Amino acid sequence: MERNNITVSAPGKLMLLGEHAVVYGHPCLVTAVDQRMKATVELVDSSTFELEAPDVKVHNYKKSLPELGKGEIPKGAQFVEIAIKNFKEKYPFKDGVRVATASEFSSQFGFGSSSASTVCVVKALSELTRKKLSNKELFDIAYKTVLDIQGKGSGFDIASAIWGGTLYFVTGGEKIEQLSVDNLPLVVGYSGIKADTVTLMDQVLRKAKETPEVVENSYREIHLLVEKVNVQLLKQNWKELGELMNENQKLLNMLGVSIPKLDDMIAASIRAGAYGAKLSGAGGGDCMIAIVSPNKEQEVKKAIGSVGGTIIPVSPNAPGARIEK
Ligand code: MEV
Repeated sequence: MERNNITVSAPGKLMLLGEHAVVYGHPCLVTAVDQRMKATVELVDSSTFELEAPDVKVHNYKKSLPELGKGEIPKGAQFVEIAIKNFKEKYPFKDGVRVATASEFSSQFGFGSSSASTVCVVKALSELTRKKLSNKELFDIAYKTVLDIQGKGSGFDIASAIWGGTLYFVTGGEKIEQLSVDNLPLVVGYSGIKADTVTLMDQVLRKAKETPEVVENSYREIHLLVEKVNVQLLKQNWKELGELMNENQKLLNMLGVSIPKLDDMIAASIRAGAYGAKLSGAGGGDCMIAIVSPNKEQEVKKAIGSVGGTIIPVSPNAPGARIEK
């Protein structure tokens, strides 16, 4: 009998280095984390799309297939709905689609819940319709979905959800290289503030209009740091890596995307002995990351907590999108 439902999971991600610059043709380094998004996708004998996504407060959402992508779409349903529309347009099939998502991580952390759910749905449809798309083909549909909704974005989060592990990634998937990094000693602190990626990208764009040379120069410096970090990462040279992260944080401050709470958490972790620390992602809130030797881990975690951060226990380098059942 043909299978009509499947569960796919995809990891959340953390940007290690290169955020913002990666939107404009530069590289970044991203690692997948071991907290995952899951989507159960079912092909149904009706002309509807149905979604249950409790983590983003979407319940009993239903739409007819010809209406996909039209009218008001609740924020929590956008990525899944547009992903299905894009998949259907490129690889037509007649059935309706029922989706239920569940996440092991909060959509507040900036771990990329929207991109992970997009990837889960696209991969599930690829299996259910027997298209068996390659990772790059999955990437293209999922990345188009991000651009359709946000208008901009590098696609690094989509690549991380698909390939997993730790990636060297260039804008739009121009380069996607898997790096072999096993035991990256990472501590992650959540600021308690939800950041909106598009708002932060727009803020940087405005700054680029006002002071193009400052922003362009920051991007170029960030690009050089990514290349240097790539080397240190592969050599597992954590001290050097930490110092390069500190430099990246200075450049992110110049772009104006850090906030006092993140600065406090970063400074506290360095005072407590971290090799280096920076914000991770768009800035404006979400998480910071620190590179920490095992004998300093407890002190650094305590220090982040003492300035109001919450430690998120995640391991990097997690596997990419996979079929669960
Ligand atoms: C957001 O997590 C990272 C940005 O570089 C946006 C992107 O790469 O799509 C700001």
